[in-house]
Amino acid sequence: MSVTSVMSGDPTIGIHDLSFATTQYVLTHATLAAENGTDIAKYHAGIGQRSMSVPAADEDIVTMAAAAAAPVIARHGAERIRTVVFATETSVDQAKAAGIHVHSLLGLPSATRVVELKQACYGATAALQFAIGLVHRDRSQQVLVIASDVSKYELGNPGEATQGAAAVAMLVSADPALVRIEDPSGVFTADIMDFWRPNYRTTALVDGQESISAYLQAVEGTWKDYTEQGGRALTEFSAFCYHQPFTKMAYKAHRHLTQQGGHDTDQAEIARCVGPTTTYNMDVGNSYTASVYLALASLLDHADDLTDQAVGFLSYGSGSVAEFFAGTVVPGYRSHLRSAMHREAVARREDIDYAQYRVLHEQAFPVDGGDHPLPRETTGPYRLAGISGHKRIYEPR
Ligand code: HMG
Repeated sequence: MSVTSVMSGDPTIGIHDLSFATTQYVLTHATLAAENGTDIAKYHAGIGQRSMSVPAADEDIVTMAAAAAAPVIARHGAERIRTVVFATETSVDQAKAAGIHVHSLLGLPSATRVVELKQACYGATAALQFAIGLVHRDRSQQVLVIASDVSKYELGNPGEATQGAAAVAMLVSADPALVRIEDPSGVFTADIMDFWRPNYRTTALVDGQESISAYLQAVEGTWKDYTEQGGRALTEFSAFCYHQPFTKMAYKAHRHLTQQGGHDTDQAEIARCVGPTTTYNMDVGNSYTASVYLALASLLDHADDLTDQAVGFLSYGSGSVAEFFAGTVVPGYRSHLRSAMHREAVARREDIDYAQYRVLHEQAFPVDGGDHPLPRETTGPYRLAGISGHKRIYEPR
């Protein structure tokens, strides 16, 4: 098959709308550094993080997801949505899909299929690709893709500075208003224990340096496969959205990619291609599945006009699975953005001190099956009201 026929595929399916939400609280890295004695330059310059989103006691992946998706439903209605795919690695139940709670909170029609997907931070990209397949089968349908996660490491672990939380909702449809997703994808899987979370733990285990090497190995692997699948040349891209466990990782990854492609690794050029994708992630922290799409939101909200330009996406999930693919920005996209709402989601968070953060970090529901209501804390649109008989109870605020 020729490169042109692979590239053509069905170029008119992609992201029609994108909205994100984050938490009630924020812990700054200055506060964390003052507590643990770290030189703040390590956080600001070394890993490229300024603050991290922290959920209130009555917030979780479901409340963030519903807050992200509600504006999408308000704008487009739910009539054409027959599938909701919820990607997360912070699942709240081993059987029931978290998306069913969102389906209920948003009053979506019963004629909907709802499912949850997991493969670390990569899950949302799998969801996006599956959604494109469904729309390809019936172009009148839309798929609501949700990525929602809370990143949590043990107190004092080097990963602590790379926590965060957010949800992204994307409406995938034919003739999208924002980004058309192209057919060739480079995919890569390697069985590696760089980061994992056994079912009995609430915090992740990680081999930090190993995870960075595994990520870079995946960049190489996906790019090789993308090229073999007849993808674009590196020089055709205007920007690159990387999974950002911390924003400096995007710079490391892009330097590695350009080296692999035999190109100049000029710092200014790397900053031009990656810098505009990092604005939200440096304040929100690692949002796992949502991170790469928060990078897209940041790019669309902050870069100069990107009309008809190609954007590269590198989605990495520890364990590990990764994918490199391309999108083209649709003419007129700017009038469909939610830039003010996104900036407000980040700006409205309340600063907490280290003691408050510690209490929230250690909070856990009793497992006795009793009634455990939660006090009203979040000022977001949805809340976790409590747990009763082992059932989580959600409500609009
Ligand atoms: P660490 O040991 O705390 O930090 O771990 P470090 O010593 O490696 O320093 C970090 C950077 O700060 C270095 O820069 C230092 O030089 C610099 P680099 O050499 O890498 O360019 N630095 C300073 N700069 C300025 N002034 C200073 C200073 N001191 C040091 N005074 C690590 C950092 C990221 C490993 C840790 O936070 C961690 O384990 N995080 C969690 C794992 C992680 O995020 N891995 C990333 C790849 S895996 C991934 O992305 C998947 C994931 O999202 C999960 C999923 O898929 O579900 C995690």
